[in-house]
Amino acid sequence: MIEMQDIWKTYADGTHALRGVSVRIDRNEFVYLVGPSGAGKSTFMKLIYREEVPTKGQISVNGFNVGRLKQRKIPYVRRNIGVVFQDFRLLPNLTAFENIAFAMEVIEAPRKLIKRRVSEVLDLVGLKSKANSLPAQLSGGEQQRISIARAIVNNPSVIVADEPTGNLDPETSWGIMNLLEEINFRGTTIIMATHNKEIVNTIRKRVIAIEGGQIVRDQVRGDYGYDI
Ligand SMILES: Nc1ncnc2c1ncn2[C@@H]1O[C@H](COP(=O)(O)OP(=O)(O)OP(=O)(O)O)[C@@H](O)[C@H]1O
Ligand SMILES: [Mg+2]
Repeated sequence: MIEMQDIWKTYADGTHALRGVSVRIDRNEFVYLVGPSGAGKSTFMKLIYREEVPTKGQISVNGFNVGRLKQRKIPYVRRNIGVVFQDFRLLPNLTAFENIAFAMEVIEAPRKLIKRRVSEVLDLVGLKSKANSLPAQLSGGEQQRISIARAIVNNPSVIVADEPTGNLDPETSWGIMNLLEEINFRGTTIIMATHNKEIVNTIRKRVIAIEGGQIVRDQVRGDYGYDI
């Protein structure tokens, strides 16, 4: 479970990115974060995976107070959160297999388990045949599938996806959405920032709308409601 209580985030240059956000996201929810550019969506997500810390307020992820986490505890929290970006962020000199394996190596998983689990997630994302390809040899949609495989390989309870379909064509985007739905169905909370109205209005989930750093709408199975 994720809980924010009166979260404020002011960056070093004085920009108020979040202004008093309070929200609760339960285990196994699928949530869209929508709102105009600069609204605070990425900041909201960065606080969850502890890329940023709040200026004020409380945020807890699975019972960990991530706003005031001791340095040595950060890896424990990160392990439980998979992150997916618009631009994939795969390591260019590693194969698809190695990119996914890397996420397990950093937590010192045993070699045998790594081999088994990476094969399993490659299968889940439908790319077993591309295990030995480098990112540059994969299409955008395939790269995003590999980055999703990397995000889920350590069995996180939460996936944070920041515009995961932002660089993909419509058809490829629907494939990525099916995959995220499947992962959610298997028991992972998903928080996804998006500007894609069609996706939000078609695959109906909870919609949290942010504007000017504040939650302006929070609807179960809502529509997009924005013109961007
Ligand atoms: N590191 C930073 N330093 C200063 N200001 C920042 C920083 N990161 C974001 N901001 C500012 O904080 C506000 C919220 O940014 P954020 O990236 O969270 O918006 P967003 O909703 O994700 O936008 P987009 O849809 O364009 O991705 C913006 O005004 C942005 O310029
Ligand atoms: Mg953003």
